[in-house]
Amino acid sequence: MIRDGIVPWDGTVAWYAAVPSDSTVRWDSSAATTFDRGYGVMAADLESQKQAAAEASAVLVEDGMTVGLGTGSTVAHLLPALARRRLSVRYVSTSPRTEEMARGLGLHVEPFSLIEGFDITIDGADQVAPDGWLVKGGGAAHTREKIVAVSADRFVVIVDSTKTVQALHPPVPLELIEFGLASTLRRLGTVKLREAPKSPDGGVIADFTGDFTDPRALATWLSETPGVVDHGLFPPQMVTTVLVGREHSVDTIVISHAGP
Ligand code: 5RP
Repeated sequence: MIRDGIVPWDGTVAWYAAVPSDSTVRWDSSAATTFDRGYGVMAADLESQKQAAAEASAVLVEDGMTVGLGTGSTVAHLLPALARRRLSVRYVSTSPRTEEMARGLGLHVEPFSLIEGFDITIDGADQVAPDGWLVKGGGAAHTREKIVAVSADRFVVIVDSTKTVQALHPPVPLELIEFGLASTLRRLGTVKLREAPKSPDGGVIADFTGDFTDPRALATWLSETPGVVDHGLFPPQMVTTVLVGREHSVDTIVISHAGP
């Protein structure tokens, strides 16, 4: 729903049309694993898919690790799964929401200033393309999420099955500097301010709504546009694994980093 140039965001609703992926390009079936949750024919709803992916990712966290935590409703399933494991782990959060929930569950959250990098970062996504490109930032946390993702040895993405798409499509979330905002918006052209609070770093949240076919070209252009703090396009080079919660299982997609 787009109203008066503002894209409302309630942080819970999947706002992108979902196209099932054929996963032909980088699907590594030799590395695929399935987590059988024993649900039988029941429980096909999205929350259980998110929970399944989140619980599968929690198993990857080990005692003594440093772990980056993403933001969103899928990550909200991850935090209790981590808390149940009672590991000794140093966590860094990408948002006040995640931090508050994590602390409430007894997880040890530290400022990012104290940690140089992570053994693993786990986060959700809004769209996952077959070649491993992501769109993130539905929860407006994409700038911090990208920093935490690139700081990790392994970046594991957890999604329900509606997030896999045949090709990325708009909107692409943006964080913009308030100074000169009208000029930045004019230069970006097809962009809508989001009805959302500023980021914890003071950035204005917006969405690029123009059509695109080449995510790399769009990512480069957005990164080079003065006034753009960061955008929600995450290249495959950042991504290690995508865990896709499905009706009765979790698929593991290992992103190949071979080639150009
Ligand atoms: C927040 C994000 C989220 O990871 C993304 O929007 C997916 O959210 P959800 O798990 O609620 O579907 O990028 O900025």
